[in-house]
Amino acid sequence: MPTQQYVKTEMVDRIGRIRLDRTARYNALNRTMVREIVEAMETFDRDERVTVIVLTGNGKSFSAGADIEEMLEATPISMELLDPFADWDRISRIKKPIIAGVHGFVLGGGFELALACDLIYADPATQFGFPEVGLGVMPGAGGTQRLTKCIGRTRALEWLFTGDRMKAEEAERLGIINRVTADVEATVLAMAERLSNQPSMALRLIKDAANKAVDLSLQDGMEHERRNFYLLFATADQTEGMQAFLEKRSPIFNQQ
Ligand code: CAA
Repeated sequence: MPTQQYVKTEMVDRIGRIRLDRTARYNALNRTMVREIVEAMETFDRDERVTVIVLTGNGKSFSAGADIEEMLEATPISMELLDPFADWDRISRIKKPIIAGVHGFVLGGGFELALACDLIYADPATQFGFPEVGLGVMPGAGGTQRLTKCIGRTRALEWLFTGDRMKAEEAERLGIINRVTADVEATVLAMAERLSNQPSMALRLIKDAANKAVDLSLQDGMEHERRNFYLLFATADQTEGMQAFLEKRSPIFNQQ
């Protein structure tokens, strides 16, 4: 794992865990921290011992967004040269499932980071929001796109225009998160444990196909899905899964 100042990582069984660790600043995401999150994800993505990645906050919150102090002096040219959001794009290329467990504030870039994950579970007291408008700017790491694709334009615009904070229950009702849970840590780890026993190649190709559904036409998406389906017939897990069904036993996937 590359050097880390603002995140903590560990591998437990087949789960790669990443914890944000800049608690004195509500895990505000400076560029180094974003780079560390991305590098940790990529390291777990390449590690064959890992099936699923878990991302959680630490201290009082998941994350209060991009580091405002770091952005204060930015200019269009400095942004163009640094291209801070290029690192965020790398999260979209992670092939394994990423589960986010969030609590406290999930604001701005913190909300965008959660939305870049695949499953989101939240503590009941979590507050989500895009406060960027109150800073004279707007979300820049996918917030306007992902929220709009998720809940539709008019509903997304109300949150984006006002910068109001959304309660966890509301986020669940709108389908932005999977579930509100009183014990985020336990819920996230239980789900990660379940997924880590699923066939890993099927998980990645399911994620890949679902991602395509967001961008492609139905017909192109279906063709992509079909190719992924056919590809899975090259895996030992396909033989194991189908044989286990016919032998009326539980399959054991990911056998080395
Ligand atoms: N960037 C930098 N520092 C931050 C920060 C951020 N996003 N959020 C909190 N902090 C720092 C505060 O400056 C403060 O530092 P000091 O102790 O050195 O003064 C420390 O964290 C604690 O914060 P507060 O004293 O403000 O704590 P609070 O409990 O009163 O409020 C909060 C908590 C509601 C999260 C508040 O800090 C806040 O509103 N933060 C900013 C949220 C925000 O606007 N996020 C959007 C950022 S822009 C963005 O994300 C763009 C993008 O699309 C990528």
